[in-house]
Amino acid sequence: MNPLKLIIPFAALYIIGGATVAAEIVNISTPRTSLVLDAEKGGALKILHYGDRLTDADIATLKDAGAINRDAYPVYGIFPQSEAALSVTHADGNMTTDVEVVDVTSAPGADGSTVTTVAMRDKVYPFNVNVNYRTYPGEDVIETWVDLSNNEKGTVKLNRFMSGYLPVRYGDVWLSQLYGSWANEGKVDEAPLTHGVKMIKNKDGVRNSHTSHAEVMLSLDGKAQENAGRVIGAALCYPGNYKVMIDTDDSDYHHFFAGINEENSTYNLKKGESFKTPELALTYSDEGLSGVSRNFHRWGRNYRLHAGNKERKILLNSWEGVYFAINEDVMAGMMEDIASMGGELFVMDDGWFGDKYPRDVDNSSLGDWVVDTRKLPNGIDGLLATAKKNGVKFGIWIEPEMTNSVSELYEKHPEYIIKAPNREATMGRGGTQLVLDMANPKVQDIVFTIVDTLMTKYPEIDYIKWDANAPIMDHGSQYLTADNQSHLYIDYHRGLEKTLDRIRAAHPDVTIQACASGGGRANWGILPWFDEFWVSDNNDALQRVYMQWGTSYFFPAIAMASHISASPNHQTFRRIPVKFRADVAMSGRLGLEMQPKDMNEEDKAVCRQAIADYKKIRPVVQFGDIYRLVSPYDGKGIASLMYVTPEKDEAVFYWWKIETFMNQQLPRVTMAGLDPDKMYKVTELNRIDNEPLPYEGKTFSGRYLMSNGLEMPLTYKVDYHKNTDFASRVLRLQEVK
Ligand code: DGJ
Repeated sequence: MNPLKLIIPFAALYIIGGATVAAEIVNISTPRTSLVLDAEKGGALKILHYGDRLTDADIATLKDAGAINRDAYPVYGIFPQSEAALSVTHADGNMTTDVEVVDVTSAPGADGSTVTTVAMRDKVYPFNVNVNYRTYPGEDVIETWVDLSNNEKGTVKLNRFMSGYLPVRYGDVWLSQLYGSWANEGKVDEAPLTHGVKMIKNKDGVRNSHTSHAEVMLSLDGKAQENAGRVIGAALCYPGNYKVMIDTDDSDYHHFFAGINEENSTYNLKKGESFKTPELALTYSDEGLSGVSRNFHRWGRNYRLHAGNKERKILLNSWEGVYFAINEDVMAGMMEDIASMGGELFVMDDGWFGDKYPRDVDNSSLGDWVVDTRKLPNGIDGLLATAKKNGVKFGIWIEPEMTNSVSELYEKHPEYIIKAPNREATMGRGGTQLVLDMANPKVQDIVFTIVDTLMTKYPEIDYIKWDANAPIMDHGSQYLTADNQSHLYIDYHRGLEKTLDRIRAAHPDVTIQACASGGGRANWGILPWFDEFWVSDNNDALQRVYMQWGTSYFFPAIAMASHISASPNHQTFRRIPVKFRADVAMSGRLGLEMQPKDMNEEDKAVCRQAIADYKKIRPVVQFGDIYRLVSPYDGKGIASLMYVTPEKDEAVFYWWKIETFMNQQLPRVTMAGLDPDKMYKVTELNRIDNEPLPYEGKTFSGRYLMSNGLEMPLTYKVDYHKNTDFASRVLRLQEVK
């Protein structure tokens, strides 16, 4: 589809209330959505509509129908009672801003996208506010951001600088948001919007998704439903401190704002300088929460996630298997084991580095990225050779933004850490961890060099697990000037982005995981440089059903690293059979997180089978459309979801029993997303039952499966001694012509 056809800025004359008013209507359309603006030159930029795609005829009568007609990017100062997206102090101290539209332009981007820019200028001051909207061919996502530029006589202070604003018509609007904590990330919270301000924020400085998330959904027709109802999705594409705010005031609107968290981050914009806010990605669907998820996932895979259309490998990560007890023999054994199970990649986690200070526990050595030759006498070359011998790829763990007070790096360069003036630095993990000051170009060079040296010396490294295990613990940069200390949080991420740009320019093909004490970096701001993220340090399969459910609201399965770990689980100590653990892990990017040597042959066989089966469905899971069917949060005793190819010729159905009671009644799950007129053959994957399911190998119409579904047995049909309180099923559906 030609993207330019999707955007129709046109000038028109409209009769409003009997008077003839010149209006420049800007219609930013995607295949199924429209954002309509009134950008009359010399007037205020108004938003008239955001939601379903409108026809030209509907746009022409929009104002008569009672269009929104509010400032599309409200600024502070004149009528200051309402919340504003932008608040600045001009060079002369004036705290009011009042902008008018100067121009509307539309330009193609390098990636096939189209950017429409509404240029605005303060009526009195040479201060420019450009509001941008980007669309992509075939995608129902509109990215919006703002460029601010200062041509005043002196510095302008940016007090608030949100990426975007959206007025949502007052009503029975429900907010879906994610919340949680370390090892409990991505939990779903759904509640109606009530009067007052609802604020979701982050102040970690480094990571931003352990607790709440910078992505939300607004269901316009009452309590959210998975596959029906009008829903707006909003994702702030930013890895740092954010603020998502919804003000339900006495107007007819819920006022939605999202952007960088301005608290303690006043930005001094010097004369001649510009400031670009992060993008806010907006989408709309009338197919419920899952519809919004599908929009985000497709857009993300095609345009935002690094290498989003490249299959991800099945891996074994060493962390929970051996923790810091790394040595050459143990690594070799793990490589041999994952290879024999059909895996494709082995990742050596924390503990492999440090010379003067070897990394044996978590209290030293970050920054000293040299191989500990006592543990690995043949170095990385030796490990690469062993990986090659076993026919698997090799990956490695680093934590480049950090150091420890016990490290050679810190001994040489104490000035590189984040620290408040005149105070001792606060220490994090292990009592010694410190955050490097990414605002400092010298630190940026160090971080670039860590990756560049590894990749240049060992180009066969296939995967990097990039960890980040500390927040900013003191507000203070030893690099920034005294009057720019408030730039710390923003300049940290600007420095990180610059470094990641350099890394990706030099090493575009290495797979990089964004890990941050688990799920601290699940956000669309970091993913342009990363291929996936670690969902959580908690691998308990039952809790993962809940966490992965929420995470899938905004992120596709290809980006969600999901590993089969040991039983009892290392975080919850729950005992879960390997079949259930595998069935959960294979709904994301499948991996293993344990010492295979500790597994019995029976469990190994289940994993081997899961890996073989996952290879069959990998394209469907990693590139398919998600349809969430029964939420674990709805207290129905089960959770169920499926992935369907865009052609609807193949699907994978997951069913997990999450509660067990005798003679319990569970609902029968109807499927979604299939073609009603196609016939699908059903095959169970990861089968452990002695007998096949009654529908094994049989065909059913998409219509039948979507209106009736299939009956799931409440238990596995296995030998008596193998019975457990868990049950789960993975079914593959293939079109039969
Ligand atoms: C935190 C990560 O989330 C874990 O997976 C592991 O890599 C440890 N750090 C290593 O220190």
